[in-house]
Amino acid sequence: MNLSVNIGKLGLKNPVMTASGTFGYGEEYAEFVDLGSLGAIVVKGLSLLPREGNPPPRIVETPAGMLNAIGLQNIGVESFIKEKLPFLRRFNVPVIANFFGDSVDEYVGAAERLSDVQGIDGLEMNISCPNKQAGWLVFGTDPEVTSEVVSAVRKVTDLPLIVKLSPNVTDIALMARVAEDAGADAVSLINTVSGMAIDIKTRRPKLANITGGLSGPAIKPIGIRMVWDVFRAVSIPIIGSGGIMDGGDAIEYMLAGAAAVAVGTANFVNPTATMDILSGIKDYMTTNGIQDISTIKGGLIWEREDL
Ligand SMILES: Cc1cc2nc3c(=O)[nH]c(=O)nc-3n(C[C@H](O)[C@H](O)[C@H](O)COP(=O)(O)O)c2cc1C
Repeated sequence: MNLSVNIGKLGLKNPVMTASGTFGYGEEYAEFVDLGSLGAIVVKGLSLLPREGNPPPRIVETPAGMLNAIGLQNIGVESFIKEKLPFLRRFNVPVIANFFGDSVDEYVGAAERLSDVQGIDGLEMNISCPNKQAGWLVFGTDPEVTSEVVSAVRKVTDLPLIVKLSPNVTDIALMARVAEDAGADAVSLINTVSGMAIDIKTRRPKLANITGGLSGPAIKPIGIRMVWDVFRAVSIPIIGSGGIMDGGDAIEYMLAGAAAVAVGTANFVNPTATMDILSGIKDYMTTNGIQDISTIKGGLIWEREDL
């Protein structure tokens, strides 16, 4: 059985990756998961300088997922390189550094520094954060700004560059095309869907930040639809995420066009979720006589025979 997939020039032994922000820097999960068995580890989002994130409460449970407004809390690029990367390098697994900034210069600075060091196999740029220079417009919601920031980062790195798209747009296929044209080697989608919850007793928002990002099973149909839209719009590989809880969910994403999948909220429910999802994928392949995982990609049957 061949489970290996390629994300641009980055080869993965299997298609199951961790989703940024849900697996820390790997340490907490190492006692539950053999990190070397993962397709890749995508680390928690990094900025050039450390960030405290938003005040609590920052997480709210919802009927089919969770809302979070962590506010991109992180230890910063330098501390990651010094304190976390050596641990991750003990395992035979590609490490993908997820990063972000509030300005084009911050994105470029973080990408440059992360490309400078040994042991990082790819970069994933999160363009779902507010652009201070453009008056809090979100980078990934404006095609021109997306093009500018992706092109600027492309110029300073030779590492495989994955652009992580926001679902909070009208036309995600357009955003993916813009990322591809600006030099992305792959796109990753979806990030969380903007949402809000209210405590009716106090009449206050449940999150201190008022709004947050919805993740988990509730967003899976949105993610699948967006992967399908993007699959028909670009020729670079797609990493699918959003509510993947079991092997069947991962297969759905691949049938829609994903080359690989990233597992997020499921890690909080079950720390061995990534490994269970990988076994589920293998079971599906065995049951259906599939030798090579890449033959599933985009295999959705969508022509209607009755028409
Ligand atoms: C607590 C939390 C923190 C997250 N932090 C990041 C982050 O730092 N960078 C990023 O690109 N995505 C981040 N995400 C988004 C996830 O990587 C993923 O795209 C999203 O949650 C959808 O997948 P899921 O439904 O499997 O969780 C975060 C999600 C959660 C729930």
